[in-house]
Amino acid sequence: MRKPFFAGNWKMNTDAASGPALAAALAASHGQRTEVDLLVCPPFPYLASVRQALAGSKIALGGQNCWHEAKGAFTGEVSPAMLRDCGCGWVILGHSERRHILGETDELLKKKALAALSAGLRPVFCVGETLAQRQADQTEAVAHAQLQGGLGSLSAEQFGQVVLAYEPVWAIGTGVNASPEQAESVHQFLRKRVEGAWGAAAAQRVRILYGGSVNPGNAAALLAQPNLDGFLIGGASLKASDFGAVIDSGAKAAAART
Ligand code: PGA
Repeated sequence: MRKPFFAGNWKMNTDAASGPALAAALAASHGQRTEVDLLVCPPFPYLASVRQALAGSKIALGGQNCWHEAKGAFTGEVSPAMLRDCGCGWVILGHSERRHILGETDELLKKKALAALSAGLRPVFCVGETLAQRQADQTEAVAHAQLQGGLGSLSAEQFGQVVLAYEPVWAIGTGVNASPEQAESVHQFLRKRVEGAWGAAAAQRVRILYGGSVNPGNAAALLAQPNLDGFLIGGASLKASDFGAVIDSGAKAAAART
């Protein structure tokens, strides 16, 4: 059985007071859970204070992005080693906001994934189609191209460090989540593609998260799907009680399906 994984993507939210306070509230209520993996990804300036707030808990810390060079003249960028140095074990790569607002390409993401892995950071690697692509029946083609383009050069051992996230762009921050059946169909497709590229064992092992308007009300139905192993959560991760409720109902649903 794959261990459920719940990640909070705080995006460009919180501040010097509310970031660590949110982390501390989560650590107090869910910090000792061992049947799920938990991750929070605050903005870069608050990594150190959030790390402190999480101390003694089992909740992991991650960055929302990184650059692919180790150091040097890259104004405004943060290296994988710097994230490691700040206590991060994880980094989100390929989020649709970075693909579509910041213009990140598969080619760039491939370099970032390799750099993150060689620095010992585990990627949460996102793929997902826009509404226009879904309507044009390109959902699977887009997911496959992003998976291959970003991660295709990884060895099976490297791929073993990755968590995938299916995040349909039309569902992110919109209040309209993918239905459990829509999500399951893409997750199943992705697992097949992973099997084709890295083998059956890798496909069985990889956790594929869903992201896009997850909340305490829809978590259980989504997590009842056999190929859905957790969530990457934006808005609902900004309130400890909502994030906690998603974790609770998701973990219960995941346990019930086995
Ligand atoms: P949302 O964001 O939960 O606010 O829709 C998800 C994400 O972008 O990771």
